[in-house]
Amino acid sequence: MKIAAVTGGAQGIGRAISYGFARAGYAVSIADPEENAGREALEAVKGMGAQAIYVKADMSRPADITKWMATTVKILGTPDVLVNNAGIMRNVPFLKLTAKEFDHVIAVNLRGTFLCSQAAAKAMIAAKIKGAIINMASTRAFMSERGTEAYTASKGGIVALTHGMAISLGSHGIRVNAISPGWIETSDWQFSGRATKPKHSREDREQHPVGRVGRPEDIADACLFLAEHASFMTGQNVIIDGGMSVKMIYAE
Ligand SMILES: NC(=O)c1ccc[n+]([C@@H]2O[C@H](COP(=O)([O-])OP(=O)(O)OC[C@H]3O[C@@H](n4cnc5c(N)ncnc54)[C@H](O)[C@@H]3O)[C@@H](O)[C@H]2O)c1
Repeated sequence: MKIAAVTGGAQGIGRAISYGFARAGYAVSIADPEENAGREALEAVKGMGAQAIYVKADMSRPADITKWMATTVKILGTPDVLVNNAGIMRNVPFLKLTAKEFDHVIAVNLRGTFLCSQAAAKAMIAAKIKGAIINMASTRAFMSERGTEAYTASKGGIVALTHGMAISLGSHGIRVNAISPGWIETSDWQFSGRATKPKHSREDREQHPVGRVGRPEDIADACLFLAEHASFMTGQNVIIDGGMSVKMIYAE
């Protein structure tokens, strides 16, 4: 039985990734700081017949990452797949953005991805597992709205970290790739006490070349592809945005 470890795996895209790997026959280890959501996702994954654990963990805390990886190895075994999905967004006008706010976003999104990858890679190498690491970047690594500098910097860093780790870990048989989602509607994938109906409008849908916004399952499917069917792919960034980033914006 293969094992998938998913950060931020309790809600949103991460929950769909946890479900996707469970349905594909993997055991799943979920790390998330939100306990209610974590327990709910854990029960759902177990209900699919998968072995699973949930560990309360905050990716900005190195000790939580160490504990999560050690608990995963002890209870389920060494992960074959790590998905660094956890991420936070802070909208703050650039001229007001503080060092503390900037550092926190970088600590969760970028440093968390580095530390989880390092911990998982050490375990994979020790267990001689030719694993896959999948990092959640964003199309915002390449394009921006105002007031998103900390987030976009973290996501640009993740794209660069991905090719860096792909080169360093290639000789161990570990592949590292990134996914850059565009607009993914997650409102109905939150903790049940908080989930709401999707909020996008017809214009929101129609501005996408594919005629809809993204679903968390679109990203979960790509994670399974990168884990299972992409043995000649490493160091890459896969853009999944319904075509938005290749669309000319001249008025028609
Ligand atoms: N939804 C989108 O449109 C979109 C687009 C591009 C990229 N992304 C990226 O996809 C990933 C998931 O986004 P989402 O929209 O599902 O977010 P979300 O907010 O719906 O879910 C994020 C999950 O991560 C958990 N989390 C928050 N802080 C954490 C921390 N410090 N440590 C560990 N887990 C933490 C949350 O509790 C939650 O379960 C993020 O990396 C995000 O940047 C999302």
